Amino acid sequence: MTDDTATDRLTELAKRRGFFFQSSEAYGGVSGFYVYGPEGATLKENLEDAWRDRFVRREGHMEIEAPNVMPEPVFEASGHLDGFDDMIVECPECGASHRADHIVEDNTDIEEAESIAIEDIEEIIAENDLVCPSCGTELAGEPVDDFNLMFETNIGPGSSSPGYLRPETAQGIFVEFPRLKEYARGQLPFGVAQIGAAYRNEISPRKGLVRLREFAQAELEHFVDPETDEPDLESVADVEVTLYSEARQDDADGEPVEMTVGEAVAEGVVGSDWVGYYLGVAQGWYERIGVDMDRFRFRQHRSGELAHYAADCWDAEAEIGGDWIEITGFAYRGDYDLSKHGEYADDDFTIFKQYDDPITVERATVDPDMSYLGPEFGGDAAAVGEALEDLAERDRSAFEGDEVTVAVAGEEYTVPVEKTGFSVDEITEAGEHVTPHVVEPSFGVDRLVYTVLAHSLTQDDAGESGADEDEDEERTVLTLPPELAPTTVAVFPLMDKDGLGERAGEIAERLRRAGFEVAEDASGSIGRRYRRQDEVGTPYCVTVDYDTLEGDTVTIRDRDTTAQTRVGVDDLPGVVADLRAGETTVGDL
Ligand code: GLY
Repeated sequence: MTDDTATDRLTELAKRRGFFFQSSEAYGGVSGFYVYGPEGATLKENLEDAWRDRFVRREGHMEIEAPNVMPEPVFEASGHLDGFDDMIVECPECGASHRADHIVEDNTDIEEAESIAIEDIEEIIAENDLVCPSCGTELAGEPVDDFNLMFETNIGPGSSSPGYLRPETAQGIFVEFPRLKEYARGQLPFGVAQIGAAYRNEISPRKGLVRLREFAQAELEHFVDPETDEPDLESVADVEVTLYSEARQDDADGEPVEMTVGEAVAEGVVGSDWVGYYLGVAQGWYERIGVDMDRFRFRQHRSGELAHYAADCWDAEAEIGGDWIEITGFAYRGDYDLSKHGEYADDDFTIFKQYDDPITVERATVDPDMSYLGPEFGGDAAAVGEALEDLAERDRSAFEGDEVTVAVAGEEYTVPVEKTGFSVDEITEAGEHVTPHVVEPSFGVDRLVYTVLAHSLTQDDAGESGADEDEDEERTVLTLPPELAPTTVAVFPLMDKDGLGERAGEIAERLRRAGFEVAEDASGSIGRRYRRQDEVGTPYCVTVDYDTLEGDTVTIRDRDTTAQTRVGVDDLPGVVADLRAGETTVGDL
């Protein structure tokens, strides 16, 4: 299959079998909004559960669910109001808006144009005679502007309380840090995860699930003390990863390199132990969920590409249809977020770190004589008092003369030192307030769903299948890991007569009671029914035949090998559980 055929085939299958399709098609469709159909919704839920299992439960982290709408001050603090922009260029002829960096990437050899300055993008557009992708009009000389990607709304009637749909679930975690730290009993490190919707008003969404305006994120914010906390690097040191570092990207012949996580951290290819740790953990998880690791790499962000909050960032990328798609970002956010919220909000975004033994320190303080400051400075007296306090903390030598001068709102105020109540005292401190650093693995759930589907879509040659198969028909198979497959087992009566249909219904019900997703199908040949299940990735099919009525056994057939064997009906739930868990195979039964 060519690349385009493969992605077209996936889009066709996704729509026909109910994995995903564009929303509101009855009204012409709206770009960037997709519906998960019955198969897709279950697949997405199974993928989220697998994420929860690995990144929350097994790491011992907490999970929360915060609102999608947050008030404006949150995004003033986070930097999204000012800095969360894409480059937009509008066509002077047809009025269509496009991402200027995408026009550059699509029509020149330049990659990652997002990291290029606006003026340079304007120049590249002019020098290369780039045109509007919608109508072909030349864009030279058209201004390229910043476009903020957040969806704005009003909280309550009127416009006095603007709010925004969150552009990342992460802010819902950072904003609640003062309470969340209590649940962690004030002890670092601890991690808080969230799976939920995020919104970005993309200028020109494209490629189906890859660029959505409403999308799902699975994010983990791991709060650590950068001085003392270390990840369990040993546990992932031997994991082999493919790394495409910034240096390799800058080198014209640079190719990604394969090395272990241990080597990557020791040699400084990955600068942060914590990021290295999560690359190693994630590598194993991608294999578990069926990402083809021959079409996968970790790519470091180039400096111009880094988000406003990130000190270093690596993306996990999967190849689909010849393009590399970002499926996860691993960012070292430092203390950016908690410091910002600490500055803007009215709460404490630090952790009190207790010393092993209390220490004695000298502390310079003031106790200004307000009966002097009040008459002298009027309405500015309180601010002068605060400025004196700041100065005493910063520079006690300023109080060595007879007078001390402070600035308030650009004006200087001179105060006799004897009126400041300046003193230096010895105090005992039990600990200090530290602002935790944040390590953030941020997974794009929709892109993961798309990757897993694209990488698991295979085409069997007709005639490769085993007994009872419909050999004339080409076989389309989704080789999804059983853990992710929307349906675990399908139950077929050989024919819908002589009580076979009823018996199949009873067996299906028994499997449902055991906790499996079960499909039933009594229509068409058995071979045709296998084909229907293969293309939605159902790993096991059970056929109820005349031997079932006599000997209480059924055949069970494996999707990938098409091997079949007979098992007792009473054993069936246990057998399916073992198969699903990978503890046995149909061939070994
Ligand atoms: N929280 C990282 C991102 O949304 O890109």
